[in-house]
Amino acid sequence: MTDLLSSTATRAARYLDDIRERSVRPSPEAVARLNAFDIALQQEPIAAEQVLEELDRIGSPATMGIAGPRFFGFVIGGSLPAALAANWLASAWDQNTGLYNITPGTAVLETVALRWLIELLGLPSGCAGAFVTGTTVAHITALAAARHAVLKRADWNVEADGLFGAPPITVIAGAEAHPTLFKALGVIGMGRNRVVKIPVDDQGRMRADALPPVSGPTIVCVQSGNLNTGAFDPVDEICDRLAGTGAWVHVDGAFGLWARVAPTRADYAKGIERADSWATDGHKWLNVPYDSGIAFVRDGDALRASMAVTAEYLPTETGHRNPSDFTPELSRRARGVDIWAALRSLGRSGVTEMIERTCRHARRFAELLSAAGYEILNDVVLNQVLVSFGDPETTHRVIAGIQEDGTCWCGGTVWQGRTAMRISVIGWNTTDDDVERSAAAMLRVAAEQEAGRGASR
Ligand SMILES: Cc1ncc(COP(=O)(O)O)c(C=O)c1O
Repeated sequence: MTDLLSSTATRAARYLDDIRERSVRPSPEAVARLNAFDIALQQEPIAAEQVLEELDRIGSPATMGIAGPRFFGFVIGGSLPAALAANWLASAWDQNTGLYNITPGTAVLETVALRWLIELLGLPSGCAGAFVTGTTVAHITALAAARHAVLKRADWNVEADGLFGAPPITVIAGAEAHPTLFKALGVIGMGRNRVVKIPVDDQGRMRADALPPVSGPTIVCVQSGNLNTGAFDPVDEICDRLAGTGAWVHVDGAFGLWARVAPTRADYAKGIERADSWATDGHKWLNVPYDSGIAFVRDGDALRASMAVTAEYLPTETGHRNPSDFTPELSRRARGVDIWAALRSLGRSGVTEMIERTCRHARRFAELLSAAGYEILNDVVLNQVLVSFGDPETTHRVIAGIQEDGTCWCGGTVWQGRTAMRISVIGWNTTDDDVERSAAAMLRVAAEQEAGRGASR
């Protein structure tokens, strides 16, 4: 075991070193070599060291450089050193962290991590929470609690009696809510298509003045951090308008919730603490390994009512927090350990600095690209930059060229009818130099595309 784990650590460290300089996109040759995995399962066991050698030799070169400092696609962070290492140690512990009585070590670490998160993000003290796989499942978890609470007020027990014949729930969201919110609503029986969509403004923010009058069981989903622009729905104003209606307000703060810790951004997220539930990711801005999301729910009883199980064979009785009372899963890995390690290593100032730094990097990208004459489509308030290189076809060609060049990686989008390249800066290890290098590569590719088009005209 010791030799295997040591050599694996060496392989992983070498991988993380290499990824700083190799093409962010895996080479087509490396991807083609993945065929080597496609063999019939052999009859006899083989040595673990050989298994790892194969995995590293064939697998590592065919990975996308997400863990490196110049991957700017899809709002995807890397892994902080302490979080990655803690994840390895926790894997060695192999704790099935459902019940305190069975796994007290990891259960306590999750309790502490949850409290730290609530304090750091300025959420109401005493909130309940769940460590899950990502914001999609955090939505499912928090919205199940919302469903419980709004139906309970209408004298309906949804866990016992289901939704057939239940009082209808009005669900409201902004027209630019993330697709996973609609997926989550579909999973919990709210329907993807019956959501009332509220028009948005020129940054994708829900227009509070367009909210309809609400009554009866109602869930209003707001977004903090638009997936394209990074903009925030005006949650404070929305809560004002909903005051006294009993509507449950749920926040999609997959990455935007982290603005709460950055003094220069916190105002955008003002009033978030007035909501009833919040979903965010650990694997985005906190830079812990995949997968990691967190649901927070003000009414812990509602969350527990929708998630907890009891059974004769399960030692659920305890004065402590049973993690699985709050999650869709019973058996689960202790995701909170990675989060605990990230927070413990960074401290408050480290988290703040990481968020501020990445926002600064986004602004620098916008400055460099706009100085070169390219249009920035959004107000760069957070970590998101949308840039157009001209007509849709040109923008697509530049994006493909940038991906092929390999210095960095960005994806495309169509936002409010405009085709754009989307730059999301969120990695803990992105430096000023990485931004300058990446912007230079973007401008070089864009100029080459322009020259190529001129020559072919
Ligand atoms: C605003 C927003 N909401 C929800 C999600 C879904 O998060 P996850 O992929 O962690 O489930 C994302 C991320 O992709 C997002 O950016």
